[in-house]
Amino acid sequence: MWSKSDLQNLVKDKLGDYLFIVVSNRQPYVHVFNKGKVECRRGAGGVITALDPVMQACHGTWVAFGNGDADRKVADEKGKIKVPPENPSYSLKRVWLSKEEENGYYYGYSNEALWPLCHMAFERPLFRQEDWGQYVKVNRKFAAAVKEEAGDKKAFVWIQDYHLCLLPKFLKEISPSQFVIAHFWHIPWPNYDSFRICPQKKEILEGLLANDLLGFHIRNHRDNFIEAVDREIESKIDREKFSVTRQDHETLIRPYPISIDFEGINRISVSAEVLKIQEALVEEFRLGGYKVLLGLDRIDYTKGIPERLLAVDGLLERHPELKEKVVFLQMGELSRIHIPKYKELNDEINALVEEINWKHSTDTWEPIILVRRHLSFLDLIAFYRMGDVCLVSSLHDGMNLVAKEFVASRSDEQGMLVLSQFTGASRELTDAILVNPYDREQFSEGIFFALSMPDEERKKRMSKMRDLIQQHNIFRWSGKVLSELLKFEFKE
Ligand code: G6P
Repeated sequence: MWSKSDLQNLVKDKLGDYLFIVVSNRQPYVHVFNKGKVECRRGAGGVITALDPVMQACHGTWVAFGNGDADRKVADEKGKIKVPPENPSYSLKRVWLSKEEENGYYYGYSNEALWPLCHMAFERPLFRQEDWGQYVKVNRKFAAAVKEEAGDKKAFVWIQDYHLCLLPKFLKEISPSQFVIAHFWHIPWPNYDSFRICPQKKEILEGLLANDLLGFHIRNHRDNFIEAVDREIESKIDREKFSVTRQDHETLIRPYPISIDFEGINRISVSAEVLKIQEALVEEFRLGGYKVLLGLDRIDYTKGIPERLLAVDGLLERHPELKEKVVFLQMGELSRIHIPKYKELNDEINALVEEINWKHSTDTWEPIILVRRHLSFLDLIAFYRMGDVCLVSSLHDGMNLVAKEFVASRSDEQGMLVLSQFTGASRELTDAILVNPYDREQFSEGIFFALSMPDEERKKRMSKMRDLIQQHNIFRWSGKVLSELLKFEFKE
C-alpha cells in the first residue's frame, strides 16, 4: 500500500538534480484579508493533499494563479512565497492575471467552453473568440513563469487540468529538451461527436500532444481522447502501448483514477473533535431521530442537484410512510458565480426546495434542508458521519471524490452510498447503489433500497468499498504518475 512517505522517498531518491514543478490554476495556499489581517488558507481537494507532501519533500515549486486579495502583499517581486506557513519548504510562484484575463481564460474559455464541452450535461458550450485569445495569452504567461523558475535546469513538470491545455506546447517551444511533462486531465474527455464542435479542437489536441505523459481518470476517457486524435491530427497511434507519435514526439496516454488520503480521513473520522462537531450539527439542524440523507457539492450543473431533489420528492410520493422519518440535508458551496448558468441553477435549486418542502411538509417537519456554507475539513468529515445515505448524482463526473470521502469517513461501516453511474467513481465503487440520475423513479427506488438495506449487507458492501479505497489511495495515484514520468529520464 502506498503511503505519504513512500511518495516522498520516491522523489528524494530519484529526482537527483532535476527540479520538480507543479502547475495548476488553483493554488495550494491562498492569502486573504480577514478583518484587516492577512490569513493563509490551505486549498481543499485531492491534488493538494497528494502533492503538498511531495513538494515539501523535494523542495519544488508550485506555479498557480494568485487569486487571493492578500496574495500580492505577501509575495516577493517574482510573485514567490515559501509555503506551508508552519513549515516553509517549497516555493509557491503566483501568476498574476488582470480582470480581463481572468474573465476570458478562467470564466470564459475554461468554464463556459471546455467545462460544458467535456461534461455531457446538455449545457451548450460558448466559444467566444476573445475568450480563446485570453486563454492563449494566459497559457503563455504560465509558460513564461515556469521557464523563469527553471532557468536552464532540467525539470519535471506536472500540469493539472483543462485550464492549461496549451502550456505543454508552449514549454516545448521555449526549450525543447529541458522539460519532461506530465499532464493530468481531471474532468471527462467527451466522445468524438461531442468534441468535434469545438472550433479550437486542433490547437487543443496539439497542445496536449506536447506532453510526454497524459493521464485521464478512466479508460473510456483515454479512448475518447485517442479517437479524437485519430480523427483530427496526422499522427501514428500505437493501440497496444496507448501512445500517439506526432512529429517525432511520443505521448503516452494512461488511466490513473484519482483518490483520497484514506488513512488521514479514517484517522480523523474517529477523533473526539469530529464527534463534537457531529453532535453540534445534529443539534443545529435538529436531525435527532431522523434517517438522514446527505448531499454535498459545489453548486454546478454537472452535479445533478435538481435531479437529486426530484428523486427525494419521488421517494416521498412513492413511500409516504417515510414522511416525518427522513430528512435530506444538502450542503452546497457557491461556485463560478460570474457565469449566468451557475446563477440560474442556484435559483432553480432554491425554487425546487421551496416547492418540494411546501408539498410534503407537516406542522413539525420539512423534508429538505439546504445550506450554503463552506465546510472546514473537520466539518466535512463530521458531516459525512451524520448520514444514513449519501447521494452523489452527477450527470457526468471525471471521478467524484465526495463518494470516496464519504466511504473513508465511515469507519463505523454504517451508511450507504447511492452513486450515479456516470461518475468515474462508479467504475470502482461497484458495491454502492448505482443509479441513473435522469431516471427519477429508479433513483428514488435506489434511495429507498439504501434506506431499507439490512445491516449485514450494508456492512459487507461498505467494508469492500473501504478496502478498495484504502489500497487505491491518493498516494498511489501520484506515485504511479510520478514513477512513469521519472522513467523518461531514468530508465529502469
Ligand atoms: C473540478 C476541476 C478542478 C477545479 C474544481 C473546482 O474538479 O477539475 O480543476 O479546481 O473543479 O473548481 P474551481 O473552478 O472552483 O477551481
